[in-house]
Amino acid sequence: MTVVVLSGLRGGVGTTALVAGLGFALHRLQQRVLMVDLQPRNLLRLHFNLALGSTEGWATAESAAEGRWSEALLQVEEGLCLLPFGQLPLADFNALAQRQDAQRWSQRLHTLQAHFDWIVLDTPAILPGNEVAAPALPETAVRLRVLEADAACHALLSVEGAGSDHLLINRFDPISQLQRDLLLLWGERHPQLIPQVVHRDEAMAGALAWKCPVGYYAPDSLASHDLRSLATWLLAQEHRA
Ligand SMILES: Nc1ncnc2c1ncn2[C@@H]1O[C@H](COP(=O)(O)OP(=O)(O)OP(=O)(O)O)[C@@H](O)[C@H]1O
Ligand SMILES: [Mg+2]
Repeated sequence: MTVVVLSGLRGGVGTTALVAGLGFALHRLQQRVLMVDLQPRNLLRLHFNLALGSTEGWATAESAAEGRWSEALLQVEEGLCLLPFGQLPLADFNALAQRQDAQRWSQRLHTLQAHFDWIVLDTPAILPGNEVAAPALPETAVRLRVLEADAACHALLSVEGAGSDHLLINRFDPISQLQRDLLLLWGERHPQLIPQVVHRDEAMAGALAWKCPVGYYAPDSLASHDLRSLATWLLAQEHRA
């Protein structure tokens, strides 16, 4: 089992949409996949047709009774599962975070390893110096830092860096001279830049409006092709390891 952790270099770069799209693409390559939402905003579920008002999720279940987090696991299709965050008042969430130890997610993922080939996590962007706020995840996890080829991400990358995380460019628009230049520059400066970008594609936005991943909504779209290539790239990395 491989754990893939996606987080944005900053907010709004499309991390949640990519978790849904990548999970779906890996599943189409005959992989058993679980997608986990670690963001209290609980939006990943909307890519899988859950009702806006649905409150079930691992945090809700765990808050009701310790050890029940996995009861919130949903099967989207045979071999494709989703663990939503759930809807929890902030006070309850803070209480839950305080009474659980930092290793909880490493332990939880360990208990799931026999059932999945891939676990894809949607995690919040972490401010530098505040890494303690992030749950501890397995050392072997593949970390993908999502960014857009724009001046704000360039500034953040130059000042803060992204450690050893792989860099994944989303919403790439080849018509933009700035984006093409940044792609070249980052390729020279950052060996961890993933050779596959995900293009800006109206089908990605449409998919969320239809509450499904882009590979289901528009299988022949450019973004779907990009995500299939990304999934294939991840599989190839796995075989090389
Ligand atoms: N490649 C793309 N092309 C076009 N639209 C995209 C693309 N990727 C994501 N989007 C759209 O951008 C919007 C924001 O995406 P999303 O919610 O996934 O971002 P996020 O990084 O998870 O945000 P947050 O930081 O708030 O969690 C969504 O409407 C999504 O469909
Ligand atoms: Mg998100």
